[in-house]
Amino acid sequence: MALLKIAQVGHPVLRTMTEEVGPEELASEPIQRFIDDMVETMRDANGAGLAANQVYVSKRICIMEVGNNPRYPYKPKIPLTILVNPKLTPVDDATFSNFEGCLSVPNMRGRVERYAHIRVQAQNRYGEPLDFEVKGITAGTYQHEVDHLDAKMFLDRVTDPNTFCTWNEFQKYFEAEFREEVADVVAKWGS
Ligand code: NI
Repeated sequence: MALLKIAQVGHPVLRTMTEEVGPEELASEPIQRFIDDMVETMRDANGAGLAANQVYVSKRICIMEVGNNPRYPYKPKIPLTILVNPKLTPVDDATFSNFEGCLSVPNMRGRVERYAHIRVQAQNRYGEPLDFEVKGITAGTYQHEVDHLDAKMFLDRVTDPNTFCTWNEFQKYFEAEFREEVADVVAKWGS
């Protein structure tokens, strides 16, 4: 396995729509090895997720995992999840305010509105169909990663520029309030 280089905001690969992965390509050794490399890279960088185009591969693959993450100590856990050709659909109009950061946007966070309940249709790494729903903070993580595949970044969705902050300033001025909001979201949506 290998650690991959992470594209930083401003690189065109982050602003290019990704391509669907066909069944033969998905089963191929290079793509399977690439998925393993994505997992290793995400874990090494303490990311909550990673999209293929963040490591310069313009394919519709993204991954997520939240354990005891020092970057996101308040985030509910997510088991390792690999989505190929994902499609997200909001189940209803309910939203919540999320504070997001991104491995491609160094030392910057901001407030983003996310759907609280979404349907996920995708394939797993073996090409098997997935169809399930996710809610709450975890649903926000899914939307952040699939946004990458659609050439969008959380920066585009920050409606109040006053919420842009570095990680240090987040801890000083925003984290206490946001932790209370996370507790409310988890109480309401279960994750
Ligand atoms: Ni990101």
